[in-house]
Amino acid sequence: MRDYPRIVVAPPGPKAREIVARQDRWASTSYPKEYPLVIARGERAMVEDVDGNRYLDFMAGIAVASTGYGHPKVIRAIQEAAAKFLHICGSDFYFESFAALCERLAALAPGPSKKRVFLSNSGTEAVEGAIKLARHSTGRPAVIAFLGAFHGRTYGGLSLTASKAIHRAGFAPFLPEVHHVPYGYRYRCDYCRGEPACTMRCVTAIEDELFAKKVDPQSVAAVFVEPIQGEGGYVVPPPGYLTALRELCDRHSILLVCDEVQSGVGRTGKMFACEHEAVEPDILLSAKGLGSGMPIGAIIAKESIMRWRPGAHGSTFGGNPVCCAAALATLDVVEHELLPNVPTLGERLLAGARRLEAKYATIGEVRGRGLMVGVEFVKDRATREPAPEIPPGLTERAFRRGLLLLGAGKSTLRLAPPLVVDEQDVDTALAIIDQCLAEMID
Ligand SMILES: Cc1ncc(COP(=O)(O)O)c(C=O)c1O
Repeated sequence: MRDYPRIVVAPPGPKAREIVARQDRWASTSYPKEYPLVIARGERAMVEDVDGNRYLDFMAGIAVASTGYGHPKVIRAIQEAAAKFLHICGSDFYFESFAALCERLAALAPGPSKKRVFLSNSGTEAVEGAIKLARHSTGRPAVIAFLGAFHGRTYGGLSLTASKAIHRAGFAPFLPEVHHVPYGYRYRCDYCRGEPACTMRCVTAIEDELFAKKVDPQSVAAVFVEPIQGEGGYVVPPPGYLTALRELCDRHSILLVCDEVQSGVGRTGKMFACEHEAVEPDILLSAKGLGSGMPIGAIIAKESIMRWRPGAHGSTFGGNPVCCAAALATLDVVEHELLPNVPTLGERLLAGARRLEAKYATIGEVRGRGLMVGVEFVKDRATREPAPEIPPGLTERAFRRGLLLLGAGKSTLRLAPPLVVDEQDVDTALAIIDQCLAEMID
């Protein structure tokens, strides 16, 4: 018998309410806050709150808890590393886990070219470094990014981000020479929505319109792309999309940067999502799930590109020894224990979500790869008008029933559980979503 989900007191309970009030009094007002979950501990895919409620987690702390909560191998690696030394600065000195992680990530990154690795503290710091590296190695100033993209909150990352206006409001001016173009969002594509099949106009328009009318391709250092858009709504682009972008970049000697901060480390059923199309990016970015929750990110670049001189880029904490140990253990667990199950579990999740789509007209589209599944809600299937009120209403109800969910984009529910979930967890999550939708629609 599974002892979760288990709601013993309607959340937020008394202890949770006290902590929420305290945090809301002292913490920055900028934190978005989804719902009043106050975690006390976790185990595998179960999260327990301070009042003893147990939840099934289907958002993994925004796709971070890749190995779940408290995986013994990850915890042991962290404890052993912490007992030895907490810091020496990997930018200036040497230690084994730093060398091992760089070597490991270089080997895991797709494609035949030899790679080099820079270790950061976060996703946005990896994006920031990649913008610098792309400009530095090409001598070109401009960058192309996509509408709906999320690349982080620091100025470089934020300049590439275009998923919600609130992220940018009040922060201008941004990095110059950033050009946003439509993403391969088939369900909402202005180019070929009426067409029977995708025409890939969103890619050809970069040359036919942007390069023809506004930007000299010779001034473009890089195209930054999420192989599956995350914060933008778990948008899976059409087959061949990444390949087409790769070819476009090659025609103009532009670097292709795959931001796999959310889609990487096994989430889609491959170690990195760009492997589904056998595309070798020039620069690959990782973070989130890489450390199972410990703050670590990585820029993995072709050696031919990562040639900046000593001193050109560094970081005090990036590649901290405890985080390196967590990342090495995470990669072991993901590669050998979890990854083999992700495709089957993902298919079960997708099939279950499609059954809900057949049942509820408010579901406009279900899409996903592996354990990265999006359910987009609409007011009307014919007009595809978004229903932005559904994901918050649904996540709130699910929370009260013991299921942790999260929205994405304008009107999409994202399903991104820890990779340790099993079939029973998947079925339980789908059943709770079904119950909540039934309540909301009636
Ligand atoms: C694709 C992508 N890139 C970058 C980031 C920024 O990562 P971080 O929040 O670790 O700075 C995120 C975070 O959601 C992301 O999803």
